This record gives sequence, structure tokens and C-alpha cells, in this order.
Amino acid sequence: MIKGVVVGLSGASGLIYGLKFIEVLCSLKEEGVVEEAYVVYTSGALNVAKYEVKGSLIEVLNGYKCLNGVYSDGDWSSPLASSSNTVGFIGVVIPCSMDVVANLANGLQYRLLERTMYNIIRTGRKLVLVIRETPLTTIDLENMLKLSRMGVVIAPASPGFYLNPKNIDDLANFMTWKVLDIIGATSKHPKWSP
Ligand SMILES: Cc1cc2nc3c(=O)[nH]c(=O)nc-3n(C[C@H](O)[C@H](O)[C@H](O)COP(=O)(O)O)c2cc1C
Repeated sequence: MIKGVVVGLSGASGLIYGLKFIEVLCSLKEEGVVEEAYVVYTSGALNVAKYEVKGSLIEVLNGYKCLNGVYSDGDWSSPLASSSNTVGFIGVVIPCSMDVVANLANGLQYRLLERTMYNIIRTGRKLVLVIRETPLTTIDLENMLKLSRMGVVIAPASPGFYLNPKNIDDLANFMTWKVLDIIGATSKHPKWSP
């Protein structure tokens, strides 16, 4: 049983990855694999959602009744702001922008998303960053190296093609499954075999 999962949605392209992951998280809650599920979204996510999500991102998120809380990055009334409330939690920023990477690598916690994920790092729990940017600068790479050295898992949004994806959903599912493997939540998905 995983005590809690906090999904961070940031201003990188690929909000479909995050929304697919939230869908699966809801099933995991139903199955009793995950106890609590939260979402924190940034203003960057709201901006990118205009181009990638049908309708309002906030309405889409509020439609997931399984979520214990949905917070904007400025909502300091959220319990997630304190590490006493995230004991045993796993963090997944999906998609993760280079801004979030830079903030976390430098200890900046002026937004709820970074504060929450930093709480997870500080308390020695697992944090997965599904980064999306190309190409990458030396600064991006150095920031990721710093985070990797702190135990953060850097999981680029780069789906494999060996399961013969037929559409965008297949590609997005690949990343969801990859993150589930990383957080140890399930192994029921299709896998490559020779
Ligand atoms: C349509 C669109 C796509 C973007 N894609 C990316 C991306 O893939 N990766 C990234 O790091 N930034 C991307 N950006 C830039 C970020 O949204 C921008 O740097 C923003 O400040 C990051 O917001 P955040 O700090 O809330 O994540 C994109 C911006 C737009 C408008």
C-alpha cells in the first residue's frame, strides 16, 4: 500500500501524460494500492492546457472524484505545504518543465508544487520527474544531475516504440506504465518480450 501520491502538473508540453497518470491513480485508489491522491498544478500548466486540453484544466481535474485534493501552485492553505502531512508520500511531476527542474535543483520552494516535491525529497521519499524538453542545455543537464544525485528519478517523456503504438493514447500509456513501474505500483501492463 502506498500512503499517498502527489501528481504535479507543470508548464511542459504533454499534459496528456499527467491526465492519463491521474486516471490510473484513481483505479489504484479503488484497488486499494494507493491510499491518498493529490494534484498540484502550476500557472504554466494552465497556460499550456489552452493548447493541449479540451475545456478548462481545473474543471477536468475537479472531475476526478477520487482525488483527495486539487491545488494551484499558490494555494498555501494546502496541507501539502508541510512535510508532516506528506509522510510516506511519493511525488510525480508529469509533465515536468525545465523551470521546475531548475527550482528543485536550487532548493527554491516559493510555489506549492516545488514546496511539496521538496518535502518529499527532504524526507527521503521517492520523487519522479517526467521531464519534457528538447534540446537540453548544459544548465538543464547539470540541474538534473544534481537532482539525480539526491535520489530523484529523472524519467524523460520518451515513449518506446517496441510495443507498436497505434495512436497518441498508446504513447501516453507507455509513460504512465513506466512511472507505475518506478513507483512500484503495478506490473499488469503489456511488456516487451523477445
Ligand atoms: C505551448 C507551450 C509548450 C511548452 N512546452 C514546454 C516543454 O515541453 N518543456 C518546458 O520546459 N517548457 C515548456 N514551455 C515553457 C514553459 O511553459 C514555461 O517555461 C513556464 O514558465 C513553465 O511553467 P512552470 O514553471 O509552471 O512549469 C512551453 C510553453 C508553451 C506555451
